[in-house]
Amino acid sequence: MTFSRIVSMGHYQPSRVLTNDDLAQMVDTNDEWIQSRVGIKERRIADSETVADMASAAAEKALAGSGLSAADIDLVVVATTSSIDRCPNVATRVAKKLGITAPGAFDLNTACSGFSYALATADHAIRAGASKNAIVIGAEKLSDITDWTDRTTCVIFADGAGAAVVSASDTEGISPVLWGSEPDKGDAVVIEGWRPYIQQAGQTVFRWATFSLPKLAVEACERAGVKPQELAAFVPHQANLRIIEPLARKLGAPDIIVARDVVESGNTSAASIPMALSKLVERREIPSGAPVLLFGFGGGLTYAGQVVRCP
Ligand code: UT7
Repeated sequence: MTFSRIVSMGHYQPSRVLTNDDLAQMVDTNDEWIQSRVGIKERRIADSETVADMASAAAEKALAGSGLSAADIDLVVVATTSSIDRCPNVATRVAKKLGITAPGAFDLNTACSGFSYALATADHAIRAGASKNAIVIGAEKLSDITDWTDRTTCVIFADGAGAAVVSASDTEGISPVLWGSEPDKGDAVVIEGWRPYIQQAGQTVFRWATFSLPKLAVEACERAGVKPQELAAFVPHQANLRIIEPLARKLGAPDIIVARDVVESGNTSAASIPMALSKLVERREIPSGAPVLLFGFGGGLTYAGQVVRCP
């Protein structure tokens, strides 16, 4: 049986910082409201960079740390919900930029749970023998689909990308995924129409995330055969500190590291989990081989989680 594992990670964020005070100049809001309700201090907003540019930059860093070359990569999967350019897809744009000549290459959209879905899909491809070395990316330019006059959304969303190189392995470095959705609640987050903007029923998503998701996060651990207390870290989708902290508490593992990248980066949808994990790896906060629970959730409403071994 072939398994897969994450070999290396990389991330990219635009250089332009948008602070809460900057936003207070644009809409009727203030630093106190944003920090106390969402936990965000600042976020990064792209200027000329496209989703594909950011995805490529993150992938380039992940590939550089993997010991592999572009010629070794046979699959590129990009999770994104915000790419304005529809065709060629983001995955083939990344492949072209990195000199990966003939990979399987596709984009996948499950909004904020996208990276966990994409990682599971690459894991399945490797387990099935369809791939040996994949690059899995979460990349978003949410600033393109944000209504900058709507204070209920413009203080939350941001831009960035994170990537993982995933390779075949004799040991299980990525557990079977727990994935699912609640289509009846789909109206709670919408990006619709010809000039789409993100609109959400914040309270509906908030209640769902804090009441329904904790037991699913525990179930994702059970599927991996790992007790929450055995985890080294928990990297949930970086939506809101007031969602991340109760989710972490309800895991019943008070000593593990909990990613809180939302404070510095805002909500970057499918990019949030790989960016947060990449930063923890870069800072060497998690020992190599230690188990980490990834748990994505958001538009759809969709969710997905798996336990990965830290590269
Ligand atoms: O990642 C995609 C999935 N989405 C999520 O996970 C989002 C989940 N939901 C949330 O994170 C929270 O519901 C929000 C951060 C979106 C909103 O926080 P909330 O505590 O649920 O606030 P609220 O919508 O209940 O609004 C409370 C008050 C309202 O004023 P009134 O009606 O009480 O007078 C809003 O108009 O806060 C007002 N408000 C603001 N005030 C200052 C809303 N946005 C702002 C703002 N600045 N930016």
